[in-house]
Amino acid sequence: MKAVVITTPGDPEVLQLQEVQEPVIKDHEVLIRVAATALNRVDTLKRKGMYELPSGDTPYLGLECSGIIEAIGKNVTDWKIGDQVCALLYHGGYAEKVAVPAAQLLPIPPGVSLKDAASFPEVACTVWSTVFMTSKLSAGETFLVHGGSSGIGTFAIQMAKYQGARVFATAGSEEKLAACKDLGADIVINYKTEDFVARVKEETAGKGVDVILDHVGASYLQRNIDSLNVDGRLFLISIMGGANAEVNLNSLLTRRLTVQGARLRFRSPEMKAEIIREVEKNVWPAIGAGKVKPVVYQYFPLAEAAAAHRVMESSKHIGKILLCP
Ligand SMILES: NC(=O)c1ccc[n+]([C@@H]2O[C@H](COP(=O)([O-])OP(=O)(O)OC[C@H]3O[C@@H](n4cnc5c(N)ncnc54)[C@H](OP(=O)(O)O)[C@@H]3O)[C@@H](O)[C@H]2O)c1
Repeated sequence: MKAVVITTPGDPEVLQLQEVQEPVIKDHEVLIRVAATALNRVDTLKRKGMYELPSGDTPYLGLECSGIIEAIGKNVTDWKIGDQVCALLYHGGYAEKVAVPAAQLLPIPPGVSLKDAASFPEVACTVWSTVFMTSKLSAGETFLVHGGSSGIGTFAIQMAKYQGARVFATAGSEEKLAACKDLGADIVINYKTEDFVARVKEETAGKGVDVILDHVGASYLQRNIDSLNVDGRLFLISIMGGANAEVNLNSLLTRRLTVQGARLRFRSPEMKAEIIREVEKNVWPAIGAGKVKPVVYQYFPLAEAAAAHRVMESSKHIGKILLCP
């Protein structure tokens, strides 16, 4: 089969489509013929060698995919050859075929094309496990997502609206803010021209929001804490703005705040399987009802993975970027 290989850590050009060995499935796995895989920001860091590179049997990028089951392991009972699925992967999606534990498969959501289904596993599992399973955002509460136009942000806005929250989103351009509004955000804030803490306070009668989902980290930490309501919850999923911060802890005590973080890929297979089940139960009906839609910015052939990485690194995209073998 063909897969996109990182020939050496570096610029997008190091991504080359090459002939490689097909993956061999284990008893609890299925083999998927990939229809589409989606880019994730971390793929660009792995390509540069700034993050643990994929290893093992399928050392290719790609944390999610959609496709058709081509073979099943002998312990797999819930799925059959020919089923159309999407999946959360450990890696290996930038390929014509990938092996994945059956517990990490989801059916194609109703009303979504086979290709576009590849845009959901990573964002749905990340957002559902953090904002909803852990931070317990509920109807009537207020929610702020930074990077509202990102793959994560475009999903989080829609899902939080569906769950009955009042949604705030930040982004770095007017075009991105307009997209956040179209997806249902109630309040959009251009963080380049506006102080998001002041705007959040103004829009919440001085209280702050109940839950924040943040990918910026250190440079936003004090401002995120200052933007939270009493009993507020901040969930960190990345540290694009740095890892080391000094903050005033007083308000954590007086306003009973929770600061938490997680990376989906470091969760155990058992936890991933539980998240997958919860996503199918809670997110798939929202997609089926047309309330949460795939947001795909651009499709690229697998052979043009380098061009796709360049688009992601330009940060001009809104939503997900897909690669199609
Ligand atoms: N913990 C987890 O399990 C998990 C899972 C999935 C994703 N993530 C993280 O969530 C974030 C969003 O992921 P994604 O795949 O949806 O990314 P994405 O679509 O590439 O969007 C990232 C957005 O971040 C903003 N940005 C770019 N460079 C930045 C910088 N240096 N500092 C701060 N913001 C910057 C840009 O929006 P603006 O132009 O508006 O600034 C960009 O559109 C990433 O950091 C990713 O690593 C974490």
